[in-house]
Amino acid sequence: MEEDKKIIPRHVSIIMDGNGRWACERGKERVFGHAAGVESVRACTEAAVEEGVKYLSLFAFSEENWGRPEDEVHTLMELMVKAMKEELPTLMKNDVRFVVLGNRGRLSDSLNAMIDDCMQTTASNGRLTLVVFLSYSGKWDILQAAKGLLEELAGHPERKEELLGMDIMEFGKRLVTADIPDPDLIIRTSGECRLSNYMLWQAAYSEFIFTDVLWPDFRKPEFRAALAEYAKRDRRYGKVK
Ligand code: IPE
Ligand code: IPE
Ligand code: MG
Repeated sequence: MEEDKKIIPRHVSIIMDGNGRWACERGKERVFGHAAGVESVRACTEAAVEEGVKYLSLFAFSEENWGRPEDEVHTLMELMVKAMKEELPTLMKNDVRFVVLGNRGRLSDSLNAMIDDCMQTTASNGRLTLVVFLSYSGKWDILQAAKGLLEELAGHPERKEELLGMDIMEFGKRLVTADIPDPDLIIRTSGECRLSNYMLWQAAYSEFIFTDVLWPDFRKPEFRAALAEYAKRDRRYGKVK
């Protein structure tokens, strides 16, 4: 039946926000909220697999987040390592491919080694691609693509006309998300209604859901509710239906 057919977004992306406030509300240190947030990552990954979402991406750490107190940054990085170690068997069991995107040159060697290991081990999994954006910002992404182009032109001046003829699709292939479709749905938790420099290019035609729920409280029911709201949206892409 047509009305029973669920419209599942191919790519759901989440700006996971509100960990600090969640912890403060409980009289705890901010890092306590980050640890609780890992549970939400697990729950939403499972829900995405169950619902047939093909790409789930998570904004875990922005380029701007490097400006936080050193001990918070350190704890966040340690949590990533711990979560990757602990979750690898579950990723394999659920057939999930794990990908990290961002300015990886700013990450420690040990974290990068762990990421490479996790990415290689899960590379041929096909049920869901889980993308974690680490040390990422949208402006950085566009800038690194532009710099890549400049370098190519400097090395191959004869390709000037070809490069000048580049279209939007081709430029998109120079972003770190080259192999990932643009997000259909972007969810931001914690009541903030901004992009905070996330996927500026790729979000051009995304649907947005802003919810007051803090990230550590965003679990399977909240994820499913967001999918239900998305299913009601009418995406027109500037055209007339
Ligand atoms: C999101 O929660 C996690 C990161 C940005 C790393 P916050 O740490 O931003 O929590 P709030 O917004 O201060 O509550
Ligand atoms: C955005 O959250 C970045 C991540 C969720 C990783 P922030 O808490 O850092 O963003 P602002 O400060 O509210 O814009
Ligand atoms: Mg925040």
